[in-house]
Amino acid sequence: MKKRDNDIELINSKPIKIYINAEEKTAYEGETILSTLFAHGIKQISKNDHDQKIGAYCGMGICFCCLVSVDNSKYRACKKIVKEGMRIKTVINTSDIVGSYVKIKDC
Ligand code: FES
Repeated sequence: MKKRDNDIELINSKPIKIYINAEEKTAYEGETILSTLFAHGIKQISKNDHDQKIGAYCGMGICFCCLVSVDNSKYRACKKIVKEGMRIKTVINTSDIVGSYVKIKDC
């Protein structure tokens, strides 16, 4: 596992292994996907309807600017807690799913 350079302080939770865009990364039990992304310096989280890369905005589940794919389902990164072996894809947009209706799962 790789060291995280952007943690604000030491984390006392158990480290777990996840994959972000197919790269193995360290996360900590109980943290959100968004926290993990920031800890690894990843700020381009999703894409808007104009295919522009965007970052998280509200950090509390309101704006939907943090949509990521987790095992082929979409989640708000600021609301979803990491789990061992989770496979996360960033910089996705609604066109990644067939049809205009996008079902976003709750936490
Ligand atoms: S950052 Fe706004 S919903 Fe996640």
